[in-house]
Formats: sequence, C-alpha cells, structure tokens
Amino acid sequence: MFEPFEAKQQLSLFDGLSETDHGQSHDLLSGRSLENTPAPNSDDYGSTGSMRETLTLDAQWWHGSFNARESTLQQLSPYVGKMKSGMVRALMTSFSEADDIILDPFSGSGAVSLEAALLGRTAWANDLSPYAYVLTRGKLEAPASEEMALRSACNLMATVEQISPSVDLSRVPLWVREFFHPQTLREILAAFRTLHQQEGYFLMACILGILHHVRPGFLSYPASHLVPYRRKAKYPPDIFPEMYAYRDLRSRLLAKIRRAYRRPMIPGRWNHRQYQVWQVNAMDLPIEDEAVDGIISSPPYFGALDYARDNRLRLWFLGCEDWKKLDASLTASRKVYLSQMSVCLREMYRVLKRNGYCILVLGDVSQNGKTWHTAEILSKLASEVTQNRLVTDHIYDDCIPDERRSRRRTRTTIFERILVMHKK
Ligand SMILES: C[S@@+](CC[C@H](N)C(=O)[O-])C[C@H]1O[C@@H](n2cnc3c(N)ncnc32)[C@H](O)[C@@H]1O
Repeated sequence: MFEPFEAKQQLSLFDGLSETDHGQSHDLLSGRSLENTPAPNSDDYGSTGSMRETLTLDAQWWHGSFNARESTLQQLSPYVGKMKSGMVRALMTSFSEADDIILDPFSGSGAVSLEAALLGRTAWANDLSPYAYVLTRGKLEAPASEEMALRSACNLMATVEQISPSVDLSRVPLWVREFFHPQTLREILAAFRTLHQQEGYFLMACILGILHHVRPGFLSYPASHLVPYRRKAKYPPDIFPEMYAYRDLRSRLLAKIRRAYRRPMIPGRWNHRQYQVWQVNAMDLPIEDEAVDGIISSPPYFGALDYARDNRLRLWFLGCEDWKKLDASLTASRKVYLSQMSVCLREMYRVLKRNGYCILVLGDVSQNGKTWHTAEILSKLASEVTQNRLVTDHIYDDCIPDERRSRRRTRTTIFERILVMHKK
C-alpha cells in the first residue's frame, strides 16, 4: 500500500519541475529527440513479433499520414486526441509480444486496443466516456468480414423501417432536432434503441461515424464533423435545399460499412481474439494486481481537450444528456489533474506485471503563456507515488505537424512525448 499523495507535494512538483515560459526551449530530463534517427528497418515495423531487446524507437516509422496504410476499421468515427495508428503499431511491436495482455486505461477511439487485437495481443480497454466505450468496443467487435457486417446492418434496417414511423420526437431536445430532418432522426433513434437492446456496438460505432458532417453520405444537415456545429450560414436552406432533405439511414450505413472494410487488415485468427472493455474511472480499475503485460495509453493532459463537449451530439444518442457533468468527471482540469493522475499512475503500477512496460503518449500544453511538460510531470509523479518502482527509461519527443492537431493554432500541443517506464 502507498501513502496518500499529499497536496503540498503535488504543488511543488507542478510548480518547480515543469513550467517554462512559453516559447522557451527546454531540456528533457532523460529525453532524446526522434527527429534524426536512422531510416527504419522495414522488417521491424508491422511485424507481430517484438523488439523488446533493442528498445529503440524511430519516428520515421510513423512519419506521414496513415490514412491510406492503416486498417480502415480505425476510421469508424472521429475522436479528438486520437493517437496515430502508425505510432501505436510501432510501440506495440517494440514493447510487447504476441498474446501479451495490453491495457489502455484511457482508450478514447480504441486505436490502441484495435491495433493490439489486429497484432494478436489481448486487448483490455477502459474509458469513462460512453462514446469512447462504444467506439472501442465497436472496433473490437467488428465482424470478420464485410458480408457479415452488411448482413447485420440489413437485419437492423428491417427493424428500423418497421418501427421508425412511430418514434415520438416530442421529447427530443431542440438542439438535437435542429441537426436532422425529422424522418432521418426517427430512423437514427429507432436504430439506437434496437442496437442498445442487442448490444450491437459495431453498428452503433458506424452510425456515430456518419452522424454529422457536410457531406451527402452523412445523416445531419450541413454540420462540422469532429465537433457538432451547424453550418447554416455557409449553406443556407434557401440556396441549398437538397442539403436539408430527408437522408435515409439504410444507404448511408451500408456505404459506411463498405468504407470500413476497404482495408480491414483483419488477421486469420480474428474469431479467437481476446478483449475486455470497461467504462469506469481509471482511478479504480476492475483488474487484479499484476495482471497485464504492458500498458500503452494516451492519458488526458491538463484540460487541453473537452472530450464530452466535443462529442455532445454522439453522446446524446448514447443516453448521456448532460455532457457538462461528464466533462467534470473526467481527469482534465488543472485543479484535479495531479491528484487524480497520481491515483491513476498507482493503479497502472498495481495492475502491471513486474518488468512490464508502461508507455504513455503525452502532449505539452500551453496555457496563459506557460508550457506544461506533461510527460516530465507524470514521470516524476509515477516515481514518487510508487516509491521509485515505476521508473522512467526514456522520454522521447516527437513534433506534431499542424494538420494532425484537432484544433489548429490553439493552446494545445505542439510536442508529443513518449514516456517509457517499466515496473521494477
Ligand atoms: C487523449 S484521450 C485518449 C485517446 C486515445 N488514446 C485514442 O487514440 O483515441 C484521453 C481519454 O481519457 C478519457 N478519460 C479522462 N479521464 C478519465 C478517467 N478519470 N477515467 C477514465 N477515462 C478518462 C477521456 O474520455 C478520453 O477518451
């Protein structure tokens, strides 16, 4: 058992170690830039084996866009703060072996867990957000083939077309109704009701992925894709009436599934994959001591993103009407960050096997002219709360190109750090 981590200690850690003036360069404690590493060895990348002995990382392995290289199942639905699948795959092959249990306690889009399952690892995932839970579970429960997925969508649509005319919209809040043609909205609601009963997470994730956008393949009136904002000023109904017509769910869902299976990269033993998904606070994981071989995760950092606010429309369809309450319960704001992360780090330490790796991908956050070096903060915190038994091997740094950031030119993050720790 560890002693509770005292607030005084947290403050000194926070103030002393990691704050620098905005724009100033800094030296990482034990870091090394990935910018100038040698060219990748293609045998290492993408294999299902491991490079545990060499313990080197090369940023070239995840250089450039992975949209045309990753499994298209990774693209089921957008998620702010999503990890790049190329980086996940490089970390997975470097720090784990086939059949290892790999935990992501903050799974978000499920990028880590899907990559784990595709590479023959056992994927354990957790996230407090219902959207993250559905998306992660949806990816892990993807049917083995396009045919199977299309068949289950056709079965769903037979029910939806039967029950949707009687769906009552009078209790749907106005802000939700404003996004959809009433007939489209009835179909979406009928689909979610049916899928909730059937625990149809893959199809739920597919529908969440086509919920809002300006494109014709999506279900809403013109709106942005990542976060839900109407685009009425740019596309006024009197000039673009076709964008405000009924949009049927059937054709759009089937097209979405075909896109998801364009390059699924599903391995032969998919039907034997092992996974578990939880929706609890990462401060209290329902996992036994020393049960997982490795942890790969991207925890939240210093209130840089509003996970619930940004996904409020998707969350509403999942039964979460109060996104503000959900955001308040996530570990994000500066006020709770250190105390909650110290508990999360102790949990990660507790569930990890001895000699297991804990790899955290963390962004620096700039706020009010200051930069917070999250990886350094958590490295120090992990060492303190585990009495130096969760120790840092390296902090690697990687520059994030502007086009990969969810919000450009904002307070969020320019540098991502990869914090590599192991349990002594
Ligand atoms: C940076 S995102 C994870 C992104 C993910 N690695 C991906 O690639 O999509 C952080 C996640 O932590 C979740 N989260 C924040 N605080 C949490 C807590 N106390 N317990 C569990 N999940 C939490 C958020 O809902 C969010 O999905």
